Amino acid sequence: MLGCDLNEMAFCRNATEGFDTILRGIDFREGEEVVYGRYDYPFVQNTIKQLEVRLGIKAVGVDYDIAHSTDEEIIGAYHSKINKVSRLLVLSHMLNWNGRVLPVKEITEIARRHDAEILLDGAQSFAHIPFSIEDIRPDYFVACFHKWFRGPLGTAFI
Ligand SMILES: Cc1ncc(COP(=O)(O)O)c(C=O)c1O
Repeated sequence: MLGCDLNEMAFCRNATEGFDTILRGIDFREGEEVVYGRYDYPFVQNTIKQLEVRLGIKAVGVDYDIAHSTDEEIIGAYHSKINKVSRLLVLSHMLNWNGRVLPVKEITEIARRHDAEILLDGAQSFAHIPFSIEDIRPDYFVACFHKWFRGPLGTAFI
C-alpha cells in the first residue's frame, strides 16, 4: 500500500510521537536550518521551535496563502528558503486545515538537490489519497492508522 519494505517501518502511538522521535533523533549542529511550512501541523512546528532554543538550529518558515497560492507559487516559496545550510525539510503532504495536497514531488526534488533530508507528514494523506513512498522518496515518513486508515486509536508508524 505504501511502497516501502516492512523492515523500514517502526510503530509508534501517534504521528506526533513519530515526528518527535525523528526530530529529536537527528544530530543537528548549531546553525543548521530546518525548513518547514507555516501550515504544518502545529505540534510539529512546536518541536522545531523547541529545537531552535535548545540546539541553536534555525527554524525557517515558508509562507504561502493556503487558499489562493498556486502550486507554482508554493514551490517557489519553498525554493526561496531551501539552501546549502538546510539540514532538513519538514513537509506536509496534505494540510489538515483545508485538505490541500502540496506539490511534494517538486518540493522534495529541490531539497534533494541541496542535500537536505526530507521528513514528510503523511498523517492526512495516508490511506486517503493514492501515492507511493517510492515515488516521493522522503528520508522519513510519518503517518497514523487512526485517521483515514480507520485503525485503532493509538497506532501510528514511522
Ligand atoms: C497533518 C497532520 N500531521 C500530524 C498530525 C498529528 O497526528 P496524531 O494525532 O496521530 O499525533 C495530524 C493530526 O490531525 C495532522 O492532521
